[in-house]
Amino acid sequence: MFTRVPLRLGDTPHDYVLGDGVLDAVGVLLREVTSPGRVVVVMDSGLETTPIPTRVCDALVDADFDADVVEVPPGETSKSIAEAEHLWSTFAELGVERRDTVLALGGGAVGDLAGFCAATWQRGVRLVHVPTTSLAMADSAVGGKTGVNLPMGKNLVGAFHLPVLVAADLSALDTLPDREFRFREMHDLQWNREDLTGPSRW
Ligand SMILES: NC(=O)c1ccc[n+]([C@@H]2O[C@H](COP(=O)([O-])OP(=O)(O)OC[C@H]3O[C@@H](n4cnc5c(N)ncnc54)[C@H](O)[C@@H]3O)[C@@H](O)[C@H]2O)c1
Repeated sequence: MFTRVPLRLGDTPHDYVLGDGVLDAVGVLLREVTSPGRVVVVMDSGLETTPIPTRVCDALVDADFDADVVEVPPGETSKSIAEAEHLWSTFAELGVERRDTVLALGGGAVGDLAGFCAATWQRGVRLVHVPTTSLAMADSAVGGKTGVNLPMGKNLVGAFHLPVLVAADLSALDTLPDREFRFREMHDLQWNREDLTGPSRW
């Protein structure tokens, strides 16, 4: 059983779907909002050793999507113009078109980077967030803020680009290091429907 929270934000109302097993349902959930086509999974390479990417790709393929996986280095260093350019170039090589979907898989860093590239590639392609850290689940995957850092400061370049779906699987947090787990527990104290829909968080 998943929890589904409708987020009526801007001109892209979408659902935040939360629960154990959501990773295996990403394809079915995405089929609710778009037809089969290509999905470019932009993934934090730190997830390589976890079952998460396979679960997501299998779920997409089972729902008749074509899945291409593009890895970016883990964490904050990826939130750069250089990495965005690398991603745009990869989109060009793959022939990513406006009808395609970018799926951000990882924590807030890859969410911000992939979201920014989705916002800017061909003036905006469809975006899905599959957050895998507590911060990304509770904060960065919600509200449509995307962006990258410059040497002069954090998040100096960016865009608002709402996803068509946020799919958060609490089992994804199982592979996080202890430090991240503690952060999860802190956030768990605040997890309820009011937090997701109330104005205080975004
Ligand atoms: N867009 C927004 O509204 C918003 C809001 C808050 C924060 N942010 C941004 O979020 C970023 C921080 O995000 P974060 O805290 O999620 O960190 P992160 O994205 O840098 O990830 C931290 C580390 O966790 C690893 N990781 C991620 N998921 C994992 C998993 N399930 N199992 C094992 N390892 C995993 C990654 O490989 C990485 O090394 C910052 O750049 C911040 O600016 C954005």
